[in-house]
Amino acid sequence: MYIFKAAVVGAGTMGGAIAQVISYSGLPVVLKDIDAKAVEAGVEHARSIYQDRVDKGKMSATDMTNKMALIEGATTYDGFDDVDIVVEAVPEKMEIKKAVFIELDKVLPPGSVIVSNTSALSISEMAAVTGRSDRIAGLHFFNPPNVMKLVEVIPGTTTTTETIEDIVGFAQTLRKIAIVVKECPGFLVNRVLTPYLIESVYCLQEGAANAEDIDAAMVDYGWPMGPFTLGDFMGIDVGADVAITLEAAYGKRMQSPQLLNKMVEVGRLGAKSGMGFYVYGEEPEQSLDALIEQVGASNPSSRFSPERLMYQMINEAARCAEEGVASLPDIDTAMIAGLGMTVEGERIGPLALADRLGLDTILNGLKEFVSQYGPRFTPAAILEQKVAAGETGVAKGRGFFEY
Ligand SMILES: NC(=O)c1ccc[n+]([C@@H]2O[C@H](COP(=O)([O-])OP(=O)(O)OC[C@H]3O[C@@H](n4cnc5c(N)ncnc54)[C@H](O)[C@@H]3O)[C@@H](O)[C@H]2O)c1
Repeated sequence: MYIFKAAVVGAGTMGGAIAQVISYSGLPVVLKDIDAKAVEAGVEHARSIYQDRVDKGKMSATDMTNKMALIEGATTYDGFDDVDIVVEAVPEKMEIKKAVFIELDKVLPPGSVIVSNTSALSISEMAAVTGRSDRIAGLHFFNPPNVMKLVEVIPGTTTTTETIEDIVGFAQTLRKIAIVVKECPGFLVNRVLTPYLIESVYCLQEGAANAEDIDAAMVDYGWPMGPFTLGDFMGIDVGADVAITLEAAYGKRMQSPQLLNKMVEVGRLGAKSGMGFYVYGEEPEQSLDALIEQVGASNPSSRFSPERLMYQMINEAARCAEEGVASLPDIDTAMIAGLGMTVEGERIGPLALADRLGLDTILNGLKEFVSQYGPRFTPAAILEQKVAAGETGVAKGRGFFEY
């Protein structure tokens, strides 16, 4: 399919930047929202991304004017009758998404593709409300979309191979690394990231270490930022919502820790609300330490180590490998391109890292953590199987990969 024109529905945090990414590739794009102010802010967001490039000498002011001319703000569906692909980026609520899908199905030409930028909701459920479920899939951008190289492409149960090829082609036009991921709650990156983030909050609420020290240790480990800085950037409410969806699907290992829920309750939602794990504006009446004390989850025998967080991530990546959520190299590529994962300066994903550390070391470490902190550390069956077969990683010539 040739894509001559695109649209983005929902001009919030993601929508404005996605419209910028599309226009940058040279495609005209309609940016639609129900709220005229949001449209204005979305277009302004795209402009500010371009302006930043101009200020840094990476593009000329004329190029910026030409690219901005490709973005058309809208509060109605006028102009959708020749749109080839729509990126839906409305709030993460199934009823809103379904209502938008029904509207889009009516106004788009037959055969046009609709993709959802949902973080964790079912693509198949959204597709089912339209008469074009073969032309619908997930296309999950990462925040900020103009910076992050990865997109996850998620086929629903009725999406055709041709549609996936069209979407991967579109993603490549946008100069993104597209990874096809089997539909499962959280898809790949958020699913693998969540147990890691949750574990950092357990360490904090149990009093094993403070946020600054944990962040510093994980940056030392190789991450571009620590888990609490990342959590504040993503939004504590967004993180807690994702954990609720994932706990319903995967059980207690994804359970949102009490501190996270408490923070949502008192409005400590991250950088956007001026305070989360850190304070970004005026000092609040209640300190984070006071909130932690209120939660009452302190555990004097709890210890923080980077391994405690990393083994949770590796374990979930192993489960994704076991379930065929994506190919093994794609699982690692997604974590590198989606989150900037590095260890000691080297780009490496969780499965290759596990091979390097030794799957037997990981397995024993997880068992030790089970005895200390409970069943959320239960090792993935594939780890037990590989260790039993002597495939323990680089040292033995075979683990998740061959050496
Ligand atoms: N924020 C992130 O970091 C992030 C990252 C990846 C994916 N996502 C996903 O992207 C989607 C959008 O997230 P966001 O953070 O940009 O949300 P947001 O709340 O910032 O923006 C949503 C926009 O949708 C508009 N809207 C609401 N109902 C609408 C309708 N019926 N038609 C048109 N517009 C409507 C709102 O006015 C708002 O401007 C969600 O599914 C979210 O899970 C978000």
